[in-house]
Amino acid sequence: MIDNINVSVIGCGYVGLVTGACLADVGYNVLCMDVDESKIKMLDEGEIPIYEPGLEDIVKKNKEKGRLRFSSSLEEAVLHSVIIFIAVGTPPKENGEADLSYVENVARQIALSMKDYRLIVEKSTVPVETGEKVAQTMNLYIKKDIDFDVASNPEFLREGSAINDFLHPDRIVVGVDSDKAKDLLTRLYEPLNAEIIVTDIKSAELIKHASNSFLAAKISFINAVSHICEKVGADVEKVAEGMGWDKRIGKDFLRAGIGYGGSCFPKDVDAFIHISEVLGYDFTLLKEVRKINAEQRRYVLEKIKNTLWILKGKKIAIWGASFKPDTDDVRGAPVVEIIELLIKEGANISVYDPQALSKLELVFGDKINYVLDKYQAVEDADCVFLATEWDEFKDVDFVKLKKIMHLAFIVDGRNLYHSMGLEKLGFVYIPFGKSIKSHVFKKRGNDSRS
Ligand SMILES: NC(=O)c1ccc[n+]([C@@H]2O[C@H](COP(=O)([O-])OP(=O)(O)OC[C@H]3O[C@@H](n4cnc5c(N)ncnc54)[C@H](O)[C@@H]3O)[C@@H](O)[C@H]2O)c1
Repeated sequence: MIDNINVSVIGCGYVGLVTGACLADVGYNVLCMDVDESKIKMLDEGEIPIYEPGLEDIVKKNKEKGRLRFSSSLEEAVLHSVIIFIAVGTPPKENGEADLSYVENVARQIALSMKDYRLIVEKSTVPVETGEKVAQTMNLYIKKDIDFDVASNPEFLREGSAINDFLHPDRIVVGVDSDKAKDLLTRLYEPLNAEIIVTDIKSAELIKHASNSFLAAKISFINAVSHICEKVGADVEKVAEGMGWDKRIGKDFLRAGIGYGGSCFPKDVDAFIHISEVLGYDFTLLKEVRKINAEQRRYVLEKIKNTLWILKGKKIAIWGASFKPDTDDVRGAPVVEIIELLIKEGANISVYDPQALSKLELVFGDKINYVLDKYQAVEDADCVFLATEWDEFKDVDFVKLKKIMHLAFIVDGRNLYHSMGLEKLGFVYIPFGKSIKSHVFKKRGNDSRS
């Protein structure tokens, strides 16, 4: 623990806000800054701009203790602290390259405001060699001969369990090129009692891209295996379980379904492929990972069409919009691409999600219907597609569901209902990577209401 040290975090999004709140919680004096003044106003008024379990409490507690403040002034953030985390977005450009303009902008502004030594820490996910570019930018804009360090400290938190992930990480990666930076960061993280891996800056940057790409590869691998399972009538979950007991493989990230999504995996895989290309290496393995993932989205459409044939004018209900449970984030969510495909087919779409509807509405506007109740969403639907395994979708009254749907037809993108014998209740039930009893309703006109 470093006594009497302040911390500034630039960017109050999913990562910045959690970083700031957690560092305040372990006892540091934290100033979180964002250019979005409406966000700062909300935070000042005690509102949390994102849905993340536990975040509201930890923000409130630390604001009350006077350890957490918010500001829209970058200059104030620079003057506040020796350690400045950059946690702004690094969204993908059309060609997959990471857009680093927000990082560059912050580095430039820090340089212009600095009066003495600062440690600038990349918390955002950035391609390898970004640290050099940040240092170069700082040198260009610094007014006087002021010393600074750049460090890389990639974040591995997962939305939905972000607070716990931050406070109890598997490891903390610290990429530095000076003893001073190493000392500041390792001491800063001392209260977390976590394994700290100290590397050079480039290796730290690579650890983040390589980790996310490896996890994405695991998901695409099991999705590829799931196609073989369907062809021979094997069960991908049993295969994954049998593989997962092998410690070298591990059980996580071996769930077949609609593919990986979210604000990190798709963009980080793209950015890693892109930076590899720039550096002269054709990362064909990752290109295949990306291709298999895109195919899983189209496979959802194929599964729906295998039963319904033509989708024009048919009602498709979707349960879940966020890319995973316990978050309202729809960036890169599989459902976004799937809805786009369904819209092209002329389907009428109704979506229910416990938290993410307003964010989904920002993407689709009035092109689809947003429904505030899971049963209301499926009324008269020809199909319900389960996209996100929120807890409330685990508890379903299937008799009621069958009564209110037009056709008792479920496509289960998360293999949630497989063991429930839904076929016996008269459903056409389509999972992923398992034997499919039938794509079609047995009796002609087996309309659930008839
Ligand atoms: N979301 C995750 O689960 C996660 C996990 C690990 C790493 N990351 C990485 O962390 C970074 C941030 O991700 P996020 O999900 O928090 O993004 P986000 O979009 O939720 O938040 C980014 C914030 O930065 C602010 N911002 C942009 N330009 C700014 C500027 N010049 N000055 C101050 N603030 C500015 C935005 O207004 C926004 O509030 C990304 O690089 C992402 O890849 C994200």
